[in-house]
Amino acid sequence: MNLRTNLPSIPFIDVAAQRRRLGPAIDTAVARVLSHCQFILGPEVKAFETELAAFCGARHVVTCASGTDALVLALRAMGIGPGDAVLCPSFTFCATAEVVALVGATPVFVDVDAATFNIDAKGIAGAVAAAKEAGLKPKAIIPVDLFGLPVDQKAIAAAAKAENLLVLDDAAQSFGALHDNRRLGTFGQATATSFFPAKPLGCYGDGGAVITDDDVLAEALRSLRVHGQGTDKYDNVRIGLASRLDTIQAAILSEKLKIFPDEIDARNKAARRYGEGLGDVVTVPTVPAGSTSVWAQYTIRVTGGRRDALAAALKAEGIPTAIYYPIPLHRQQAYKHFPVGKGGVAVSDRLAAEVISLPMHAYLDAATQDRIIDATRRALRK
Ligand SMILES: Cc1ncc(COP(=O)(O)O)c(C=O)c1O
Repeated sequence: MNLRTNLPSIPFIDVAAQRRRLGPAIDTAVARVLSHCQFILGPEVKAFETELAAFCGARHVVTCASGTDALVLALRAMGIGPGDAVLCPSFTFCATAEVVALVGATPVFVDVDAATFNIDAKGIAGAVAAAKEAGLKPKAIIPVDLFGLPVDQKAIAAAAKAENLLVLDDAAQSFGALHDNRRLGTFGQATATSFFPAKPLGCYGDGGAVITDDDVLAEALRSLRVHGQGTDKYDNVRIGLASRLDTIQAAILSEKLKIFPDEIDARNKAARRYGEGLGDVVTVPTVPAGSTSVWAQYTIRVTGGRRDALAAALKAEGIPTAIYYPIPLHRQQAYKHFPVGKGGVAVSDRLAAEVISLPMHAYLDAATQDRIIDATRRALRK
């Protein structure tokens, strides 16, 4: 209960509401795994991979232990390693650049577009030039579909073609979204996603997947997730990882996938309500024509140094907010020695100082949302 308003505190993401909706179906699915005991790569894993491939129209889905591992596996399958440069945005979650360093390659930061928060294709040529000046071979780009909104895939594909770069789409926050009326998963050579519980399609622990139309890449990924095994499982053909999606998590995800389209609709309805309620007082996110978002976050931009005051005012009324991301990667201790593209990363710096995310999930009811909108408007008017 919130002392100032006498109203209950609002969850930022309400994972429990979905648990209430799906309770018995998930309990039955988990009980099935507990009875057959095939906890690693059991039949539910293959079934879920087939369902997910059908959902996004891709040839292959290779599940694994996390979204981070999905990116690592994809980079390894693409043969990226020491001496290679991989372009990525600076305004993203650290895993996007972390995986590049983990495979021994070098991340090169590109700026983002202020309206979409996504990597700006116009910065690619400058990042390739910076990579070459640093003595690196530019090999790939990891665009991120941040906060649930697809990057401008056509512009990325054109720039990647011009610079001879592979494209690994980081759809950890955006799986389920459409671009050019196509679901994410079939853009670029491969797409990585995360099933972390807070993601739009999350499981009850860690999980991830690589999605690809490329048969050769898919075969390498299936080998890499089991220590690099060959056709004989004790004759390993490459150095791999132990990175599988647990069978229990696959069983849970199959149940969640059934209601995912309905949840995406609910998230879009909530985003529309926020836009209508706040669009005249603050910069609200917009969705380019031909795309949809799955609204992993609903992120507004507050200028004039008023962000902390807004967060404090909402907190006092039992309304949580979050800042994704307060420090762009090029300023973080672990990443600041990596190259930045020639165009600089000024927009990433500006967004880091202005963004703030409001509660968003598929079970946000209208009364709760009105409370958030009303409190936000009052705080911004002060
Ligand atoms: C953009 C982005 N990439 C990668 C990841 C990594 O996913 P996971 O947490 O499943 O390892 C995340 C997760 O937060 C993310 O937001």
